[in-house]
Amino acid sequence: MAHAKSRSKKTILRSVLALGLVLGCVNAVKREDFKTCSQSGFCTRNRAYADMAKEDPKWASPFQLNPSSLRLKEGILTGDLFNTQESQQPASSAGLGFELHLLDNDVVRVRVNERDPIHPRYDGVQDTVLIKPYGFATEANIERLQKDDNGILTIQYGPNNRNTVRISSAPFKVEFLVNGVPTVLLNNDGLLRFERLRNKDDGVLGENKLVDQASEEGEGEIETQVEKSPLELKLEENSWEERFKEFTDSKPRGPESFGMDITFSGINHVYGIPEHATSLSLKATRGTGAPYSEPYRLYNLDVFEYEIDNPMALYGSIPFMLGHSKNNTAAVFWMNAAETWIDVEKSATDNNSGLLSWIKGKKPVQAASTKTHWISESGVLDVFVFLGPTQRDIFRQYSSLVGTTVMPQAFSIAYHQCRWNYNTQQDVAEVDAGFDEHDIPYDVLWLDIEHTNGKRYFTWDEAKFPNPADMQQGLANKGRKMVTIIDPHIKMDSGYHVSQQGADLDVYIKNKDGTSNFDGWCWPGSSQWIDFYNPKARDWWASLFKYETYVGSTKSLFTWNDMNEPSVFTGPEITIPKDVIHYGNVEHRNVHNLYGTMFHSATAQGLTERNETNQRPFVLSRAFFAGTQRYGAIWTGDNVASWEHLEIASPMLLTIGLSGVAFSGADVGGFFGNPEPELLTRWYQAGIYYPFFRAHAHLDSKRREPWLFGEPYTSQIREAIRTRYAYLPLWYTLFHEASIDGMPIIRPMFTVFPEDEAVFGMDDQYMVGDALLVKPVVKPGVTQSTVYFAGTEKWFDIKSFSVQQGPGAKEVDSPADRIPVYQRAGTIVPKRERIRRSSKAMENDPFTLVIALDSKGEASGKLYLDDGETFNYQHGDYILREFKVSTGTLSSRSLKPTTEPEASDFMQHKAGLRIERIVVLGLAAPLKQVRVADREIEVGCAQAAQGGHYVCTVKEPRVNIGKDFDLSFV
Ligand code: NOJ
Repeated sequence: MAHAKSRSKKTILRSVLALGLVLGCVNAVKREDFKTCSQSGFCTRNRAYADMAKEDPKWASPFQLNPSSLRLKEGILTGDLFNTQESQQPASSAGLGFELHLLDNDVVRVRVNERDPIHPRYDGVQDTVLIKPYGFATEANIERLQKDDNGILTIQYGPNNRNTVRISSAPFKVEFLVNGVPTVLLNNDGLLRFERLRNKDDGVLGENKLVDQASEEGEGEIETQVEKSPLELKLEENSWEERFKEFTDSKPRGPESFGMDITFSGINHVYGIPEHATSLSLKATRGTGAPYSEPYRLYNLDVFEYEIDNPMALYGSIPFMLGHSKNNTAAVFWMNAAETWIDVEKSATDNNSGLLSWIKGKKPVQAASTKTHWISESGVLDVFVFLGPTQRDIFRQYSSLVGTTVMPQAFSIAYHQCRWNYNTQQDVAEVDAGFDEHDIPYDVLWLDIEHTNGKRYFTWDEAKFPNPADMQQGLANKGRKMVTIIDPHIKMDSGYHVSQQGADLDVYIKNKDGTSNFDGWCWPGSSQWIDFYNPKARDWWASLFKYETYVGSTKSLFTWNDMNEPSVFTGPEITIPKDVIHYGNVEHRNVHNLYGTMFHSATAQGLTERNETNQRPFVLSRAFFAGTQRYGAIWTGDNVASWEHLEIASPMLLTIGLSGVAFSGADVGGFFGNPEPELLTRWYQAGIYYPFFRAHAHLDSKRREPWLFGEPYTSQIREAIRTRYAYLPLWYTLFHEASIDGMPIIRPMFTVFPEDEAVFGMDDQYMVGDALLVKPVVKPGVTQSTVYFAGTEKWFDIKSFSVQQGPGAKEVDSPADRIPVYQRAGTIVPKRERIRRSSKAMENDPFTLVIALDSKGEASGKLYLDDGETFNYQHGDYILREFKVSTGTLSSRSLKPTTEPEASDFMQHKAGLRIERIVVLGLAAPLKQVRVADREIEVGCAQAAQGGHYVCTVKEPRVNIGKDFDLSFV
């Protein structure tokens, strides 16, 4: 507390002002709280270097690889990389070390690090982000290695050696080719720049000695000028100390940034690098006509009420980018957790006339390409290149490195009811009863920060919540759960057990002196932040979730991790200063974007380990990074109750999903403000198709439980939520798929229709898995929507079964009670149509299969089922079925590998649950007869209202969901 008292009045005032902002007293993001590139020294320096390179028609990268230094050993190629413009080449070392790893899953990793730096550059991101050490391609696989006289080294790899990596020595560049066609090019534009660590009075290694290449032509010698040009001065800007508003970043190690260009050759659309409130296909930030002038920024920040259509940084960062064209798909993962900026430029050519001419027998093509420029503040240059061949391969390759989405508990993919705050135990009971009264299912009730004793996490406000365990039991009796919020800032209060234990264990983040604890201001006032990089801190934190330490918690209580960017109201850009110190003397600057994930993972560990219940955890986090999917769900933070925010949620979630984090959602209704009933209803209708489906609202907003707006809204919202519950078997199956091979759950149209150029930029409609097409209504007063039906097959409206024929855009009805949702011909979707008060209450209900036949009369689909709660599925205790229709027979077969153990009795019981209904869409004539084995089954058919096809319903076929059967129909 002494700290709190010694705070200056100015600081407190600032805190209060900041708090006021967070509370929503001001109606828009305060842009000036956050840096632009020109306010960031390293961004400015690297962008200026790019400008210089672009303005010089003869520009060539000054980096060269020493060809005689190249060695290939056990899948790793190493070599010495020089910057020929560095005036001070260290006598003993080669300057930079180049590494190229050939992984056994056809991924290539390229690293550039400093040799013998004056202090080690931070290289620890891999330890927390990569799930396991990967295997290398064997020498046999890379035997097709050739070196030519010009020092160009070529290695072929991948299936049938379809991929080639070409490494050029002078100038240095690395090109990836697919079937001989250049696809991903590193340093093709020569923007590689690497600030080597140095002492402040050493002078500058590098660009202060920049040579005007044009004037130097033919001289063959590096100029040794001393005068600095304005450009050179700019390149040094803010190298040793940097100010932003009233904050000073002390930068004890000086400049250590690096940047490099990555060209997606012949690829005009790039996607990924969340989190930004922008379109799915990333807009250009540079070049003629670029819609944005700022680069995309990756720096986890608390940007409440964020602006849309903007490349500003938000709460999470995933430096993964996927490029796609009709002919090609490729991706890169820039593994760095420091602040990073990325410029995107669309280009008519690769700007490199010689580039394509060497491909023998092929005519040079002038393809539209996307050039990107990646700039990170510190660490090492470490980039993975994925060449597929398909998107599915890329998702599998990427997730084999950083992990897949963890299989969630079944309840957590149902509906969550949240607001800041449900105020008392009585309030909770009334809201809970309200759902039953209005016949609206829900699974989880959430408590925000006000439930605690003075924002001391793991405690309860005893006046408002006198019997938390009873309250949870009351919900659990109906199969419902509760979530409480736990933030990473710990109130400074020696009487608070968590605060005191943290001090005793010495697990708080330290100031730049490395010894005193950092303190700042957050919800509880003066607070300290737990250093989750310290293994002792993580284990201690995890232990706090045991029922005996988290008094009042029960098995049905789960966790919400908020403010974990981390948000510090008194810090620069509302976060923690970059020069604070973590365990192992690691400066925060190196790991900022991973902090929230470390917190998320420690919490998930706590819920997993509490009292050995074998229960899967559920933790929602606001901050995220590559690999977050291994710990739980995320949401898109403090959005606004506006139509524009409803609209931007789809591209944001699609982007996050394709970057590996499948379990994500946006606050339904919009966090700030008061949605009009139509907006709220439309948001529910869209939100039921978010992987994480939660309504949430700000403290100052009016209450908005689904029944408060009267009819027709209550019925419309009820219908939407019930639709989510009906499709839970499909959602759960898609989560399984994501957990196995990293597939996104909601998928951009281009993922399902990779050859249809009309959908490459489309983000106002999307697919749930491969089966459902969803088009949210995002404008008021709309009753007709334009939907693009891709492919050459039919699409069936999920409610009316009316049919649309692809390809092409059509105007379809989108009346107030539903948005357009279509099932694709050729798919089979599992459902449960007896909607009850919670998903738990439905877990023993029978199933419905909806079969949408394609033009060949075929269809297929899957169902995954386990106990929905425990880790037993990891030991084979699950059911995985494939349903297939061909030549008039629906068959059900297990997809479970025979090597897996038999399912337990419990799962055998699940396998015995029956299919009560089979709906067949797309029949040219009514079915006459349906048979299983010797039995004839009742079937009823009717002609669909529109489209001319027949819809037949097979009732009680007396087959089980988890057992083999063949059902024939004519
Ligand atoms: C900020 C979060 O984004 C919001 O969802 C939450 O309600 C408030 N913090 C209060 O905890």
